Amino acid sequence: MKTPAIVINFKIYKEVVGAKGLELARICEAVASETDASIAIAPQMVDLGFIAEKVSIPVFAQHIDTGTAGAFTGFTSVEAVAGSGAVGTLINHSEHRIKISEIDELVQVCKKQSLITILCTNNLEVSSACAMLKPDFIAIEPPELIGGDISVTTADPDIVKNTVTEIKNLAPEVKVLTGAGIKTSEDVAKAIELGTDGVLLASGIVKAEDPRKALMDLVAGLK
Ligand code: G3P
Repeated sequence: MKTPAIVINFKIYKEVVGAKGLELARICEAVASETDASIAIAPQMVDLGFIAEKVSIPVFAQHIDTGTAGAFTGFTSVEAVAGSGAVGTLINHSEHRIKISEIDELVQVCKKQSLITILCTNNLEVSSACAMLKPDFIAIEPPELIGGDISVTTADPDIVKNTVTEIKNLAPEVKVLTGAGIKTSEDVAKAIELGTDGVLLASGIVKAEDPRKALMDLVAGLK
């Protein structure tokens, strides 16, 4: 995935249920193609393969389970994600936390399947620990700011800057995204200025009255 990037997590918002998920994915694809911006999406898990097949932008899973393919019910294996056409997965999102031992296992198995890992973290200490596992990306998102109207880049720029510095020291090959409350081009520009490789966001696009307009505004912040 080219950076700086805008990664849009659809979560399981009602705005992306059924055909509406594909509609939003197509809007993201169109904006990426018109502007040449790097835009990736994480649709609802039930739509993963369906959407990955229909759009040309990178598609990520929102979550992946440990363990391999086999006689287990209701889980999502690394093999299933790789076979769906997705290019990677979020791991340990604030709304779907897992244990560090599971994170470690998932980062390793994803590497074997050539899946890009976006490992979500909630603070500087967890970011530093997770950097040692060498995911492709760490996405620092203070949970209390998620879904709110104040961007992490305004509310807590230090957590972003310090995470970038710490990860550059510990594992320079790991890229950093930030998220929580990001809604405008100014928020994106500030994230880049703080040293990140892009943003991870959800409500600013999924719940926008006009997602295309909101996305065009975000993309302007990449320049
Ligand atoms: O995965 C992105 C997310 O947790 C941030 O959500 O709604 O604050 O952009 P939001």
